[in-house]
Amino acid sequence: MKFGYFDDARQEYVITSPTTPLPWINYLGCENFFSLISNTCGGYSFYKDAKLLRLTRYRYNNVPADTNGRYYYIKDGDTVWNPGWQPVQTELDSYSCRHGLGYSVFESTKNELAAELTAFVPLNNNCEINRLTLTNKSSQAKDISLFSYIEFCLWNAVDDMTNFQRNFSIGEVEIEGSAIYHKTEYRERRNHYAVYSVNTAIDGYDTDRDSFLGAYRGVNRPIVVEQGQSTNSKASGWAPIGSHNINVTLQPGEEKTYIFVLGYLENEEENKWEAPGVINKAPAKEMLAKFNTNEQVEAALNELKEHWQNLLSKYTVETNDDKLTRMINTWNQYQCMVTFNMSRSASYYESGTGRGMGFRDSCQDLLGFVHLIPDRARERIIDIASTQFEDGSAYHQYQPLTKKGNMDIGSGFNDDPLWLIACVSAYIKETGDFGILEESVPFDNDETKAQTLMEHLRRSFEFTNTNLGPHGLPLIGRADWNDCLNLNCFSKTPGESFQTCSNFESGKAESVFIAGMFVKYGKEYAELCKRTGNQAEADRALAAVDRMYATVLESGWDGEWFLRAYDAFSEKIGSKECEDGQIFIEPQGFCVLAGIGVEEGLAEKALNSVKEKLDTKYGVMLLQPAYKDYHVNLGEVSSYPPGYKENAGIFCHNNPWVSIAETVIGRGDRAFEIYKKTCPAYVEEISEIHRTEPYVYSQMVAGADAPRHGEAKNSWLTGTAAWTFVNVSQYIIGIRPEFDGLVVDPCIPSDMPGFKATRIFRGVTYNITVENPNGAQKGVAKLIVDGQEMNGNMIPFVDGKKEYSATIILG
Ligand code: BGC
Ligand code: NOJ
Repeated sequence: MKFGYFDDARQEYVITSPTTPLPWINYLGCENFFSLISNTCGGYSFYKDAKLLRLTRYRYNNVPADTNGRYYYIKDGDTVWNPGWQPVQTELDSYSCRHGLGYSVFESTKNELAAELTAFVPLNNNCEINRLTLTNKSSQAKDISLFSYIEFCLWNAVDDMTNFQRNFSIGEVEIEGSAIYHKTEYRERRNHYAVYSVNTAIDGYDTDRDSFLGAYRGVNRPIVVEQGQSTNSKASGWAPIGSHNINVTLQPGEEKTYIFVLGYLENEEENKWEAPGVINKAPAKEMLAKFNTNEQVEAALNELKEHWQNLLSKYTVETNDDKLTRMINTWNQYQCMVTFNMSRSASYYESGTGRGMGFRDSCQDLLGFVHLIPDRARERIIDIASTQFEDGSAYHQYQPLTKKGNMDIGSGFNDDPLWLIACVSAYIKETGDFGILEESVPFDNDETKAQTLMEHLRRSFEFTNTNLGPHGLPLIGRADWNDCLNLNCFSKTPGESFQTCSNFESGKAESVFIAGMFVKYGKEYAELCKRTGNQAEADRALAAVDRMYATVLESGWDGEWFLRAYDAFSEKIGSKECEDGQIFIEPQGFCVLAGIGVEEGLAEKALNSVKEKLDTKYGVMLLQPAYKDYHVNLGEVSSYPPGYKENAGIFCHNNPWVSIAETVIGRGDRAFEIYKKTCPAYVEEISEIHRTEPYVYSQMVAGADAPRHGEAKNSWLTGTAAWTFVNVSQYIIGIRPEFDGLVVDPCIPSDMPGFKATRIFRGVTYNITVENPNGAQKGVAKLIVDGQEMNGNMIPFVDGKKEYSATIILG
């Protein structure tokens, strides 16, 4: 069952029913000011940091679901309704929500009154614009009362939802004309405030929540709206809100447009006040003046649309499969940009108060957006590397505002260092900018400890190389990519965090997955050494990689698949000898994509085992059989009920590893089959089972052991976005940046007749046509570049040339 459809021409998903199985959201904002907005107008806004500078209040895990947003109440006679259906939930005569690239549009009608609400965050401005147009479609004049509503958050979202003994006495606002200013704590150490305004004279306002809602009422039936009259309340403590009242008469056919702006402003310390106790409103007025007319707003919206067009023009395809085309051209890349902006901080599943920027998460996200915004990727790399410890290991998280690492979710995840090599290498392949390796980058944000980025990579490599266990495999530390495989934690205390608990380090538990990473990224490190003139280090690294390769075959192979790990007692994990957890997905995917066992025929065996033991119609499960009980020597992975999350869920992030692995051994049919199973556009038809947004990936889909098999959770902020894009763009479609040029090496299903692609790479446009006359899955039989046949599958650079046309014949 579907709840909408893709409008590919406009690059929008159009939701046609407000009662989607779960809120289906979009993100507004590209730089500093961000909003989450659901298909019923729910969500909230923040400036830079969703925990520390939250403008509006949102109630996570509330009933009814998705409460609080930017709400517009339309009172037309006795009927009160909202363009986004919530919160009043009056049945609408028509409804749609179009989620586009950085904007959302709600179009609804009720009793021959039409509302169109467009929400977006303009480029280079710290505000959300809500443009509301009301049109009288009836043949009689209509008297309408319009009420806006937002609820302010007292900035620090954690304090805001916990520290009530203080909060209820600190709220402060100012009202001037149609502008409502939220200035809680401005009197003391804050130099910032929010403004919520509308570009017309108002008939009343409310800034005190209780006055607006009335005792014991919710946002679904505010007393003020019911009575049709604002109270002009001035918040003093309690819960400050912003609500405007506009009364308007619309003649038949007449329309009126209102522009509401919610903005974030800062003042210099010395310019805080206009008069004693009165905030300096100059910056707010300047902002509001920019969005005072419909023409200004239209121009800003067009500018935003152009921005996205430009961004997404770097990689486009035309294929015979609409679902594939729209995922590549629009939604997958869009989600990659959102993970760039948000990391794992704010979604409908991440409260914006806990997880800042993950070290490994950010490194992997970068793989998906480096081609879109190489300059910002460069900055991001330096930020991440600056938090690294001198021994090469890493804090697991850093905060976006301070850019400093913190221990809130621990450290000692031994895969972290290698992801730094992964992202630096991807960045250089995309840009050719070897200069980044010479940048001086601090350790632990301490400038006195700065070294070149290349030295950071050396320490990353060495960290793994020198932290080996009894079998010569990398020690796992607290955990590896699977941060729930906690082999050294032995936690027995209820509620204790597996990420930060003590009783730690056996010096024995080893990870075959990290071994796969070491082979893959160790080779990349060696290549970087070689290309920067350090052949001796390259040789040393390659020798270590070779040793690891041999070790994996010797101690990491279980007969039909790769082992997952050894625990703190050197017992096998992910082996046929185990009762549960006999096979794990991660080492099969990563070892094979690193090339391990390909020549020996083991890769094929491992991937066949994946198909036989882990596959379902909704994707490949993380492990099987699911752990039935909690195992103290395994940690969090065994804490989940079977089929959820890391305990045998379909953890979407690692499905592309297996799909890529399939391309490594040339099985395009299977690679594509795996790709499709978790790909949102392909499961749109079963939205009632899948439940999350059909235009973006979710972190997890419930596995075969779960009662709700096929149901997804944790949409949007997941490394799945980056890895599925790497898979589909670089391995299936097969257009892959390498140090010396662009490689075209597709691995597609045999029934795909070919495709066209345009790739902008290092400022040069590549028009690529792939033909598949003989139903091949992989292998370039012919490469013709600008009429000339070439050897191999790389389009080499010719200095100064700005455009290439390449035809590739598979066979
Ligand atoms: C989740 C992981 C997550 C980790 C750290 C665990 O409970 O299952 O997916 O990465 O917490 O926040
Ligand atoms: C989610 C985390 O953000 C990511 O870092 C981790 O690798 C996965 N969970 C798998 O456990």
